[in-house]
Amino acid sequence: MMRKILIVIICALITPCITSTAAGQNAKTGTKDKNRNFGDLPDGTLAKLYTLTNKNGVSVTVTNYGGIIVNLMVPDRNGKMADVVLGYDKVKDYVKDSPYFGALIGRYGNRIGKGRFVLDDVTYDLAINNGRNHLHGGLKGFDKVVWDVVKIKKPEGPSLKLHYLSKDGEEEYPGNLDVNVTYTLTDENELKIDYLATTDKATVCNLTHHSYFNLKGHGCEDILEHQIVINADNFTPVDEGLIPTGEIRSVDNTPMDFRKPTPIGARIDANDQQIKYGRGYDHNWVINKKSNKLTFAASVYEPQSGRYMEVWTTEPGIQFYSGNFLDGSNVGKSGKVYNFRNGFCLETQHYPDSPNHPEFPSVILRPGQQYKQSTIYKFSIR
Ligand code: GLA
Repeated sequence: MMRKILIVIICALITPCITSTAAGQNAKTGTKDKNRNFGDLPDGTLAKLYTLTNKNGVSVTVTNYGGIIVNLMVPDRNGKMADVVLGYDKVKDYVKDSPYFGALIGRYGNRIGKGRFVLDDVTYDLAINNGRNHLHGGLKGFDKVVWDVVKIKKPEGPSLKLHYLSKDGEEEYPGNLDVNVTYTLTDENELKIDYLATTDKATVCNLTHHSYFNLKGHGCEDILEHQIVINADNFTPVDEGLIPTGEIRSVDNTPMDFRKPTPIGARIDANDQQIKYGRGYDHNWVINKKSNKLTFAASVYEPQSGRYMEVWTTEPGIQFYSGNFLDGSNVGKSGKVYNFRNGFCLETQHYPDSPNHPEFPSVILRPGQQYKQSTIYKFSIR
């Protein structure tokens, strides 16, 4: 009897702490937790939170809505944990207005010029949702759908397997696209994302992930002093709508040269046509690589905290976006306001508008083929 009373008192004492914790920050109990409630979606589906924790206490929390990474806890050089991704405390805020915070992106990540492409002599017209162009899969891309999620154990570490069937004709894309995405957190502090997709009709497929990082911790001002390296001799210049012109241009003597560590802010306001079109950085770099094996694509170092992140990918390109559309209108986790350039994205991908550029690596997926990509975000300190 006494034991029961004691348990009730302890529960009453700790419950307010747990419920007042920002989304997914309950890292210590993460792997033992039952999947937590993240609120109702407009159609009545329950959004859930799933947390993976490794032996170093690094944790990642994902929701089934959009496969969004809600929270990513990583230590600084003194072992102090911070949540290094932007996002919200409640799923309803993601539904209301999110610039793709932490989301899985598809069926076609990045832009398709005028929302139109021709495949096997059929013209497809997609939603125009970004100026005159199509962006990130349309009005209801993979960032806004509910994924089936199961926890699995892989040899490399605890994993979440997400599945979504994008029906033939969804967002006007052809073919039933069956998509599996696996998030794995290794004991080497790597967040690995593996994508696998198949189709029953020829289609286009370009999947990516859209976390906004701030290695000081989300809500800790701008990212301009973060030092970035991009392993690319070339990039794909764009027009004013951020559609590639088709040229593959050398980064030599341009503000796009990040082959040596450079603060993001060093040349972000340079008097340069490409920088003007992007309002800063919002471009695709052509990763230096010889095969489709995992290749070092980029790294970012934050000098105050000592946090360091490397990005490795099987993809040929990487979009570096410096948060130029953040304007303080998104009030995020713990009431933090996300202002101009308070986060950056490194989206591994095929090049933008590839369906209209036969000279770019192909994004066409046919029945019998598998779309596969792997990307690793690896965290350490310096
Ligand atoms: C992508 C685009 C950016 C912007 C963000 C979302 O990264 O390249 O231009 O649209 O998504 O705000």
